[in-house]
Amino acid sequence: MKALIASGGRGTRLRPLTHTQNKHLIPIANKPILHYAIEHAVDARIKEIGIVVNADDVEVQKTIGNGDKWNVKITYIPQIVPGGLSQVVQLAEKFIGKENFIFYLGDNMVVGGVKRFIDEFEKSKCDCFLTLAKVKDPERFGVPEIKNGKIIGVEEKPNIPKSQFAVSGIYIYNHHIFEAVNSIKPSARGELEISDAHQYLIDKGFTIGYAEITGWWKDTGKPNDLLEANRLVLDNIETKISGNVDSLSTIAGKVIVESGAKIINSIVRGPAIIGKNCTIENSYVGPFTSVGDDSFVKNSEVEYSIVMTKCKIENVNIRIEGSILGNDVEIVEAIGKPRVHRFMIGDQSRVEVA
Ligand code: G1P
Repeated sequence: MKALIASGGRGTRLRPLTHTQNKHLIPIANKPILHYAIEHAVDARIKEIGIVVNADDVEVQKTIGNGDKWNVKITYIPQIVPGGLSQVVQLAEKFIGKENFIFYLGDNMVVGGVKRFIDEFEKSKCDCFLTLAKVKDPERFGVPEIKNGKIIGVEEKPNIPKSQFAVSGIYIYNHHIFEAVNSIKPSARGELEISDAHQYLIDKGFTIGYAEITGWWKDTGKPNDLLEANRLVLDNIETKISGNVDSLSTIAGKVIVESGAKIINSIVRGPAIIGKNCTIENSYVGPFTSVGDDSFVKNSEVEYSIVMTKCKIENVNIRIEGSILGNDVEIVEAIGKPRVHRFMIGDQSRVEVA
């Protein structure tokens, strides 16, 4: 069994964050999203991972490396023009060879890993194994039609969904998937859809197995999904205080304070994570917040937010909530008169003021 992870695409729905970083490297609980996919593959004892990246991308390779730190071999497969998930599978044909493989969309997050699905795939000896998650908005996803416990059809983003399920971005295949992705035609949006490959397999009589993801699953395509994924991952952390917490501070609930971080006269109410070498002074950090390495928070309050590395939040007199701050972002008090809001914000940013 090999693993194929998709980490290309432009992440347009996550701009402006994705103007400067690949969406698969956005941190969830201070770890790039892509790490979670790799770790799940490693937990399932997979030794060879192919990652499909944009041909002009250097960031993913630089951040993830050759796999040594997980004791796996990572091969990068360039994608010149994004052409849909079936195209991603096409590109990996040589890398996969005749082996079975798990195809994992690098922006999907699932709790509990993927080993249980691989075990089921192997036991059932099916050709293709889909994982389904019950969602409120199936029209955003690939949607299965299920009859008498069997998947009899899959449609991509249908106007009228035939079930409440989304086909999640975790698929397990044998080599027959290559026949499917090499036979289908582009959809109306010009992409080789993975759902069409699944439909092809169904039409040709191949066996499709499936399991329902009963814990949580998230496709982190939109800003709110990132905050939700962050909340769900933080919910499962264990307290570990490696940094310095002074006697005037209170740490409540599950909190990670990384080495070199200083908590001074502040309240940190978990679940929360404070990255390496951060300073939190005279401040409140509330539940479901992650603060990236080297950030500085003084005389301010932050809750349910993702703050990336090297940020500065100082003397902000209204609590920051439900926010995502990229790297090197500053939110500080405007000094002097007149009393104003003063912004210097890049393209496609969004600010809500009270
Ligand atoms: C893709 C697939 C879709 C699947 C979803 C899961 O959608 O095309 O079938 O349900 O991933 O995350 P996209 O993220 O490209 O909209």
